[in-house]
Amino acid sequence: MTLNTSVRLARRPAGMPVADDWLVEAAPMPDPGPGQFVVKTQLISLDPAMRGWLDDRPSYLPPVGIGDVMRAMTVGEVVASEHHRFGVGSVVLGTFGVQEYALSDGDGVTMVDSRLGTPSMYLGILGTTGLTAYFGLMELGKPRAGDTVVVSAAAGAVGSVVGQLAKLSGCRVIGIAGGSEKCAYVVDELGFDIAVDYKAPGLRNALAQACPDGIDVYFDNVGGPVLNAALGNLAMGARVVICGAISQYNAEAPTPGPSNYMSLLVRRATMSGFLVFDYVNEYRVARKRLARWVADERLSAPETLVKGTVADFNDVLLRLFSGDNVGKLILDVRTG
Ligand SMILES: NC(=O)c1ccc[n+]([C@@H]2O[C@H](COP(=O)([O-])OP(=O)(O)OC[C@H]3O[C@@H](n4cnc5c(N)ncnc54)[C@H](OP(=O)(O)O)[C@@H]3O)[C@@H](O)[C@H]2O)c1
Repeated sequence: MTLNTSVRLARRPAGMPVADDWLVEAAPMPDPGPGQFVVKTQLISLDPAMRGWLDDRPSYLPPVGIGDVMRAMTVGEVVASEHHRFGVGSVVLGTFGVQEYALSDGDGVTMVDSRLGTPSMYLGILGTTGLTAYFGLMELGKPRAGDTVVVSAAAGAVGSVVGQLAKLSGCRVIGIAGGSEKCAYVVDELGFDIAVDYKAPGLRNALAQACPDGIDVYFDNVGGPVLNAALGNLAMGARVVICGAISQYNAEAPTPGPSNYMSLLVRRATMSGFLVFDYVNEYRVARKRLARWVADERLSAPETLVKGTVADFNDVLLRLFSGDNVGKLILDVRTG
């Protein structure tokens, strides 16, 4: 009998998730009924939002229930099927969770098209990551040639794409990242104009120097003091895009709001949040556009693949919070 190992939420974490917050359980692999198929997991997406899904508070998705398989986007191969569309051998993308095998009826499942990209790209540049960068920057940031665009977590999955798309739009791009190595990476490998290390003292002044005419578009992935420093350097009519706030996801007490928010008034700026899911009807077109830029080598798709098993999920998740990733972080559970 084939066993299915899954990672389930044992209790709600306080602060950074630890091993005891999870239960690793083995049960028989499910059998597909009529209209169903079974997917064998190959690649598991690690997303900062996962931390938010563990808290019992209202959000854009219900929290993961105690005892439930951890929610995750994954790519896998169909190994048993009674479904008319997803036959054995199909490679698919879906929210199949942190487990070795998942049963599906095809709802919300996307076929991986190898003409557009590799399976891992469907979790990164052609998945939620690339689509978030694309819609957040283009729809809310509205970059114009010559604009100064600043993006935080610039060496990360979303940030690395945002900066490259802003360059494709003819903008001057400043990346904010942690440490000299990542700063060198975004300039040397991704083609950003300047990088600023937020871990060094004096971020607000460093941004002022890098952006003498102010920031036209600030794409924020981290919140906290980095957001505050960016708000202190806005140009007239700036667009601040709130994509995420990873610096706050493990906070155990409410975090203070940005004290520089009045510069939104002074600079007649806007600050807007968005969710990539709101653009689901436009995914296909955007995915094709992103794939073409990758094929034309105008866009690179950095990723950090960590080999392991589903039981390594928590250790790999923590890399997002320690900054131990460049580009899309993926747990690769393929054997061999
Ligand atoms: N709105 C949406 O629809 C949507 C969709 C997807 C993702 N998101 C958001 O987009 C953001 C980026 O996600 P991602 O998947 O691309 O992750 P990521 O950027 O690949 O990984 C997270 C990065 O954040 C940085 N970081 C961690 N702790 C930090 C802190 N305390 N202060 C500043 N930086 C910190 C680290 O880089 P350093 O080494 O540079 O510190 C780390 O590598 C997240 O906030 C996520 O929630 C939003």
